[in-house]
Amino acid sequence: MNEIFSTLLLNTNVTVEEVLAALDRNGKGVVFLVDHDQIMRGLLTDSDMRRALLKGASISDPAELYMNRDFVSGTLPKEKPENIALLNEKICSLPILNPSGRVVDLLRLTDLWRLPVMEPVLKGREVEYVLDCLNTNWISSQGKYVEQFEEKFRSYISTDYALSVSNGTVALHLAMAALGIGRGDEVIIPDLTFIAPASMTVLCAAKPVFVDVDRSTWTLDPSLIEAHITPRTKAIIAVHLYGHPCDMDPIMEIAKRHGLYVIEDCAEALGAEYKGRKVGTIGDIGTFSFFANKVITTGEGGMVITNSPEIHHNMRLLRDHGMARDKRYWHLVAGFNYRLTNLQAAIGLAQLEKIDVFLSYRGEVVNRYSTQLNDVDGIVLPPQKEWAKNIYWLYSLLVDKETTGIDRDSLMGHLAVHGIDTRPLFYPLHQQPPFSDGDWKKYPNADWLSTCGLSLPTSNNIKLEDVDKVCAVIRSVMKNKSIFRKYDTGQCS
Ligand SMILES: Cc1ncc(COP(=O)(O)O)c(C=O)c1O
Repeated sequence: MNEIFSTLLLNTNVTVEEVLAALDRNGKGVVFLVDHDQIMRGLLTDSDMRRALLKGASISDPAELYMNRDFVSGTLPKEKPENIALLNEKICSLPILNPSGRVVDLLRLTDLWRLPVMEPVLKGREVEYVLDCLNTNWISSQGKYVEQFEEKFRSYISTDYALSVSNGTVALHLAMAALGIGRGDEVIIPDLTFIAPASMTVLCAAKPVFVDVDRSTWTLDPSLIEAHITPRTKAIIAVHLYGHPCDMDPIMEIAKRHGLYVIEDCAEALGAEYKGRKVGTIGDIGTFSFFANKVITTGEGGMVITNSPEIHHNMRLLRDHGMARDKRYWHLVAGFNYRLTNLQAAIGLAQLEKIDVFLSYRGEVVNRYSTQLNDVDGIVLPPQKEWAKNIYWLYSLLVDKETTGIDRDSLMGHLAVHGIDTRPLFYPLHQQPPFSDGDWKKYPNADWLSTCGLSLPTSNNIKLEDVDKVCAVIRSVMKNKSIFRKYDTGQCS
């Protein structure tokens, strides 16, 4: 028995205090209580202890008083399918008992094979370039990799100017600040997106105005925009969600008619195209993120692009403390430090050298998913308009509960038991605490997509056999509704 395992086993005669100390030491959220013959009699989790203390338990009480005797256990051999099937988000530590009921081993969810939703692939020249930064002392935001990364990005996207920044969130803030968006202005934002476009609008002292999304693209519905325009509206942020472009022609037409700026948030859509044009090049500014779960990564990082020399000038000035380029420590405006480091740019350059490989392999992964899930009742595949090149940031689909009675969260639970990591789609912005206005009827599509949608593993290096495993679990769960159940017992804290 290894040391961690030994801290999980306590004698039934211990006190609450001893259980708390053991929980603290083992960090597993659970202890097993055994009698003198090592026979398992019950278990206690962090939550059991919290509840007991709240109800007035004393730390000197016998722990047995609060012990959960109705526990779930497995039998040898440890990793047999019956044991694995017992593990889920609630039962994440399974005691393995021998025929006499003695604890002989432990099976944990974290010991099993796991397939992450997204992990970076850093197998190109990343190490070589980063070592070059370290060996030459160019580790801050000056250095050749910043320039090379920006130039390679500029030419990959086909835009006039590309400026690297610290992340995709400040990219949005920089874009709005450079356009002069400020107090009292309004910015139109899709209701279904990551929070950054809305929170950065608030940072500008402007007001985010949410517009519902289109069910067939999951992005801003152009037909609803005009009803939300007021004399204070300054800009539209078009978010190319989950890698699928927005329908940009009507958005640009509305913006032109009303004199509004368009910022394209391409954090999730590097390489995606709208009618043959790369996203980010259609509006006034395009913003990108290189967080570790994005198509290419710099750890944290981002980019702003534009074809306008004036906007580029403003963004560069604001990114670097508003400092004059020809007079050090002379600040023309009050700006920010939103620069990317040479170290991060070195990683970015190596990643960008691989982008075609990443995107073309991603195409194979997408085909593999779509072919196997296409005919599954109740599964709606990700959007794919005829005018769009979707890069499927995360292969995301919908579980239509109305027609199947099957719940998205339960499907996620089943995938988790098989070691498959998933993510729910974003929560609509109007529901989130900083923005909730209490009227939940105005955004039916965002509400619906958010409750039905989940993202599947889509790493740049995911094996096709693993895609097959994910599809097999989904097919079997959707076919066999009787195995569907909500998890209601707990062996985790
Ligand atoms: C649509 C969207 N915009 C902005 C961001 C913010 O990017 P970052 O995490 O690099 O700040 C994200 C991050 O996932 C995003 O999904």
